[in-house]
Amino acid sequence: MYEHLPEILRTRCVGRVIRELDSVDSTNTAARLLPEEGSVPDGTVIIAREQSAGRGRVGHGWHSPRDAGLYLSVILRPPPGSSMELSSLAVGAAAAQTLRRHYGLPALIKWPNDVLINGRKVCGVLVERIKTDVYILGVGLNTNWTSQIRDEMESAMKKTAPDSGVLYIPPGALSLALGGNVDHAILLGRLLESIDVAYTAILRKFYGFILRRVQRNLFGVGRAVIIGQDTCGVFAGINNDGHALVRREDGTVLPVQSGEVHFADRD
Ligand code: BTN
Repeated sequence: MYEHLPEILRTRCVGRVIRELDSVDSTNTAARLLPEEGSVPDGTVIIAREQSAGRGRVGHGWHSPRDAGLYLSVILRPPPGSSMELSSLAVGAAAAQTLRRHYGLPALIKWPNDVLINGRKVCGVLVERIKTDVYILGVGLNTNWTSQIRDEMESAMKKTAPDSGVLYIPPGALSLALGGNVDHAILLGRLLESIDVAYTAILRKFYGFILRRVQRNLFGVGRAVIIGQDTCGVFAGINNDGHALVRREDGTVLPVQSGEVHFADRD
């Protein structure tokens, strides 16, 4: 399905090699095993039509029905000394940028790396470091959902959402926002080009470029937020390290490096 993509892609590194799988437990897990098979070029992509055990951040799963999303992992082998700290933020921003620029969608980044359209999550990023110099960058993007998939996702969400005043919104998909299906090969090409730009910026230490890409389209600035177990206040954007800033009731602003983010159900 994607065999001709590398020929037309305008990328320096990402997607020069694409391996397609029909079905797999998780492309991130499959990608972990590849470097052991021998030489794998920087930027190699593994993509599957479906995943039986897609993995998300903080122990969540990633529902991956057949042909209803892009499920891919990019193997990155940055040169020694590269700082990859901003990589997950950079990839979320790359995905949001792709959806805004090419599909006219109001895609926003929910820190650290979710992409939301009309408040619904359509894309998530899972970056794993498997050796000092090898990273697996997993991207799940919900694309062509049937109404059955949408109903399944909504009822699964209702079952798991705790009754805590926290805002739980069911995930979405591009087809729901656009009113029609997208072409996977075209979307994948655009996404890989945007990820390639982000990766090049990281390698060249153009961190300001990445931070600006994120800041332009950041969701929730000025809203009440809870991050992790105990940090709550008002979301005040991100700092130069890409950490979330939370303004607490006493006026102090706390940088937060990681944690699940929930926006409270009030403005
Ligand atoms: C998240 O938002 O929690 C991250 C979701 C990442 C899902 C993608 S799908 C392709 C790759 N393989 C996986 O098992 N996970 C990532």
